[in-house]
Amino acid sequence: MVGLDFCGAMLEEARRKLALVNEGPVAWVQGRAEALPFRRAAFDCVTLGFALRHVEDLDPTLREIGRMLRSGGRFVLVEWTRPRAAIPRWLFLGYMRWVVPSLVRLVSRNRRVGALAAYLPRSIASFMSGEALSRRVDLAGLEVIDTRSYMLGLVFICVGLNTSAGAERWEPKPRNRESEAATSQAGERDRAVPIAGGV
Ligand SMILES: C[S@@+](CC[C@H](N)C(=O)[O-])C[C@H]1O[C@@H](n2cnc3c(N)ncnc32)[C@H](O)[C@@H]1O
Repeated sequence: MVGLDFCGAMLEEARRKLALVNEGPVAWVQGRAEALPFRRAAFDCVTLGFALRHVEDLDPTLREIGRMLRSGGRFVLVEWTRPRAAIPRWLFLGYMRWVVPSLVRLVSRNRRVGALAAYLPRSIASFMSGEALSRRVDLAGLEVIDTRSYMLGLVFICVGLNTSAGAERWEPKPRNRESEAATSQAGERDRAVPIAGGV
């Protein structure tokens, strides 16, 4: 299992949390979702939890998921999305924009916590609906097999498959001179860089 984030502090936090539930082993890798440092078809499954909304470039990120998944491999994306219907959108975003930050200010004087509470509804409001996200996933060449919306569209789960014919399962080759020469020529994207924990 491999966990990736471009922020070292978030990786540390993930490592700390995972240690609490005694899961593992996990290799923690610092890298960008838009250019993942893994070989093609190296993974059976890819999951992203509440991260798509933050990536700089959505389409390259989705294509990278397809590149990394073996043929028939699965992905699960979970994200806050913008409700399409006007009434739930006003209700939820209004609640998160005005009620939640006020409640947070009552229990915490920490400015960063307050800023975070204000950031969440802004980032959801400027993101897309679940349906639009599903279309982008499809356009990236991945097959959506199931979608679920919760809280009238505020939370969206998208499950799918990599059905592209070219994505064979990547298997590590026995080390010999030829494969070492090929490895040394491989670009940065083909090298996983564990920063903590280790497998
Ligand atoms: C809201 S947090 C979710 C973290 C975790 N998945 C969870 O559910 O607790 C979003 C994470 O995405 C990471 N992130 C944002 N853009 C990224 C990118 N382009 N590449 C890699 N990680 C990114 C951030 O550093 C942050 O840790």
